[in-house]
Amino acid sequence: MAIQVLLLLLTCFATSAAKDTLSQGSSLSVEKPTTDILVSANGDFSAGFFQVGDNAFCFSVMFTRSQTPTPVWMANRDQPLNGKSSTLSLLKSGNLILIDAGRTPFWSTTTSSSSELHLKLNNNGNLLLQTSQGTVLWQSFDSPTDTLLPGQKLTDQAFLLSSRSTTNFSSGFYKLFFDTDNVLKCLYKGPNISSVYWPTPYNTASTNGRSTFNISRIALLDSYGAFLSSDGFQSNSTDYLATLHRKLVMDPDGNPRIYSFNQNRKMWEVTWQAINAPCTVHGLCGANSLCAYHPVNGRTCYCMQGFKVKDPNDWTQGCVPEFDEEQLSCSRKKNASIDFVILPSTEFYGYESKVYNVASLIQCRNICTQLCDNCKGFQLSFNNIRTYNCYPKTVWLNGRDSPDFSGDTYLKLPKQTLLSSKKPLKHSPMECSSRLSQPLDRFYQKPRRNSTLNFLLWFASAVGALELTAILAVWFFLFRTNKQPDHEDQRLLLSATGFQRFSYAELKRATKGFSHSHEIGRGSGGVVYKGKLDDDRFAAIKLLSSDANQGEAEFLAELSTIGMLNHMNLIDMWGYCVEGKHRVLVYEYMEHGSLADYLSSNTLDWKKRFDVAVGTAKGLAYLHEECLEWVLHCDVKPQNILLDSNFQPKVADFGLSKLLNRDERAGSGFSRIRGTRGYMAPEWVYNLPITSKVDVYSYGIVVLEMVTGKSAMETHSLDLSSRGIEQRRLVTWVSDVINGAPKTEFWVEAIADPKLEGEYEISQVEVLVKVALQCVQDDMNQRPSMSQVAEMLQPHGKTLLLC
Ligand SMILES: *[C@@H]1O[C@H](CO)[C@@H](O)[C@H](O)[C@H]1NC(C)=O
Ligand SMILES: *[C@@H]1O[C@H](CO)[C@@H](O)[C@H](O)[C@H]1NC(C)=O
Ligand SMILES: *[C@@H]1O[C@H](CO)[C@@H](O)[C@H](O)[C@H]1NC(C)=O
Ligand SMILES: *[C@@H]1O[C@H](CO)[C@@H](O)[C@H](O)[C@H]1NC(C)=O
Ligand SMILES: *[C@@H]1O[C@H](CO)[C@@H](O)[C@H](O)[C@H]1NC(C)=O
Repeated sequence: MAIQVLLLLLTCFATSAAKDTLSQGSSLSVEKPTTDILVSANGDFSAGFFQVGDNAFCFSVMFTRSQTPTPVWMANRDQPLNGKSSTLSLLKSGNLILIDAGRTPFWSTTTSSSSELHLKLNNNGNLLLQTSQGTVLWQSFDSPTDTLLPGQKLTDQAFLLSSRSTTNFSSGFYKLFFDTDNVLKCLYKGPNISSVYWPTPYNTASTNGRSTFNISRIALLDSYGAFLSSDGFQSNSTDYLATLHRKLVMDPDGNPRIYSFNQNRKMWEVTWQAINAPCTVHGLCGANSLCAYHPVNGRTCYCMQGFKVKDPNDWTQGCVPEFDEEQLSCSRKKNASIDFVILPSTEFYGYESKVYNVASLIQCRNICTQLCDNCKGFQLSFNNIRTYNCYPKTVWLNGRDSPDFSGDTYLKLPKQTLLSSKKPLKHSPMECSSRLSQPLDRFYQKPRRNSTLNFLLWFASAVGALELTAILAVWFFLFRTNKQPDHEDQRLLLSATGFQRFSYAELKRATKGFSHSHEIGRGSGGVVYKGKLDDDRFAAIKLLSSDANQGEAEFLAELSTIGMLNHMNLIDMWGYCVEGKHRVLVYEYMEHGSLADYLSSNTLDWKKRFDVAVGTAKGLAYLHEECLEWVLHCDVKPQNILLDSNFQPKVADFGLSKLLNRDERAGSGFSRIRGTRGYMAPEWVYNLPITSKVDVYSYGIVVLEMVTGKSAMETHSLDLSSRGIEQRRLVTWVSDVINGAPKTEFWVEAIADPKLEGEYEISQVEVLVKVALQCVQDDMNQRPSMSQVAEMLQPHGKTLLLC
């Protein structure tokens, strides 16, 4: 095939007499791909005609060390040239110009010069038009397409614009640019709508860690793998400091990524990405639909209740109502009765008529009702000043469904539709075997059958394979079929998830040789130390005990599962160490310590306790996400619930049941028991199957401890007046008090921690205790799932139909 021949010749050129300059008055022809090409002196880059489709070529700078050339810059991405008699010419006037077969100029540098000029391809991939004295008139680094090379500056004028897809190089929808406030941002610019989605758009610049004051507007990827921006943003790739080829690309899925070139595999690998929650990218699921992330299937879209998909092959078109929208108006004729349905933990970014500060859900609902058809529903989120922000929505766009979002959406529907329509299938157990919805493949165009194109397609899929979703799918396949995935794949995945590999020496240094004085905890499978890493960050370092020994590959495989977990209520894992028999995990360090420390003192007021209960439920619900039960915690207890500076809980020590010997979970007898006495579900003792309901049980116990201030490890006195005082375990103590009390107010008072001194909300105590008692049912089938718990603790409870 032509391109293979070209490749072969390229290699020859690199070693023999390839030229890196084009002199004035000469041209390169699309018809002579092997000779009419510039090759940088070091052979890393070439400039020539790159085939983008059937008889379609773009003049490009390509990186040539990869298995197939990688375009890093294109002159005419949106207007490919004919494969016959098109040329690139450096005219005597000093203009560099691309002329199509029809003799029309498609692109030019619009330069002119009286002195002698030449075009030169530098070793760093920069194509320059310069005089013999070295004055630069034009350079490709000033007008990037979707790629930034080390040393190339992203500036005010020069932004990155994604390709349409991995196979279609024309301009896509996602832009990385400096906004007028001097902040580097990602923008979705679709056919009809446009919005910024990175950094977090509803935060101020300073909350996002950006400065608006530096007007220089320069961002740069350096050759060590650091990406630096003049607004203060800074990030290091996972292989920071390694010397290799790198590039930063605004990928077609809207996520800017840094890639490193793997010399052995001759492939680009992801070593950093800006966005870890893929549904926060805008424009992926259209109007009236929601984006959800599934750890295995990746990103999916689904319609809201009462809506149906417009084009299942193109989710950007979103969903359309199954009811007559006039029914939402307040006109005399059509005044159908309306109602609201809650969509928990869902966000629709933007498109509110106004933001209201309200005291209750009812108030927000009334506002929306009175706005008639100008309000399609509303989003409600708790703000920090003990009221709610109410966002009445005019359209439903940028929807995402994510347990890490702490607000809810209330959808307005005609009562009739609400009753007759089904809830969207999302948590249905049937989904495990079948896909919930179409994958997001709108960018992928069906190619015409053609041998050259097939080749291109093969090339593109090699590039595309780097996309995280693809990796996940492949990896999952390997994992499922019990093949031992090779280390390389896991390293790649680990770096894609942002993990750092630490040396044992560094961690030993950090903890002064794992000394006793640095010990901060002892849990299942190991001892935790506080340590100061070489970069001065404090970390919680868990040294896994040697009976947790397992092969390196297996360890890395399990670790990559944990690495994909990312939730505000889960502790952040920074990295790991595998060296010889040493297995160490490195986590963020929580200054405030654990819930256990606070339960013994009375520094946690009611609001904080309630927030901890809600946050912990959300974190665990996320762990148990969907029906895969891919991560059970197995040791939920106050010692494993850490508190951040705002007293938000972060669940720690998860994933260890997987990291420890997996066979133990399936085995029987004493050895399989994990967890801590007092918090353990009966299944452990009765040798029943272990499911996510063991965590639900332990969670229920922790909640009872938080409400009562009484320990689950001890027994408590119950005054049975006539029969004297008896001792009870915590669960029976609570239920006996409730059964003995005549009215709610009495039992709430009798149960609540005396240290609260009556400062609590009766309704919240009531709901927490009721939920907790459901969680600690002996029959695991009677217990709710963790996501049901999270829903029940949302303001005003689940499945709540108003009016
Ligand atoms: C790439 O996408 C653009 C925009 O959708 C389209 O016009 C063009 O034909 C596509 N090119 C190829 C080679 O498929
Ligand atoms: C602005 O950013 C540039 C590039 O990062 C830096 O060199 C310069 O010192 C910054 N200026 C100020 C005033 O911080
Ligand atoms: C990147 O590494 C440098 C050098 O070790 C360090 O100073 C900097 O803080 C790191 N940046 C981030 C965001 O971790
Ligand atoms: C954009 O708006 C036009 C006109 O309203 C509409 O026909 C089209 O479907 C919209 N496109 C998308 C992707 O929403
Ligand atoms: C229609 O419903 C709205 C909201 O319930 C109410 O304010 C309005 O008065 C009703 N109009 C008629 C004509 O019943």
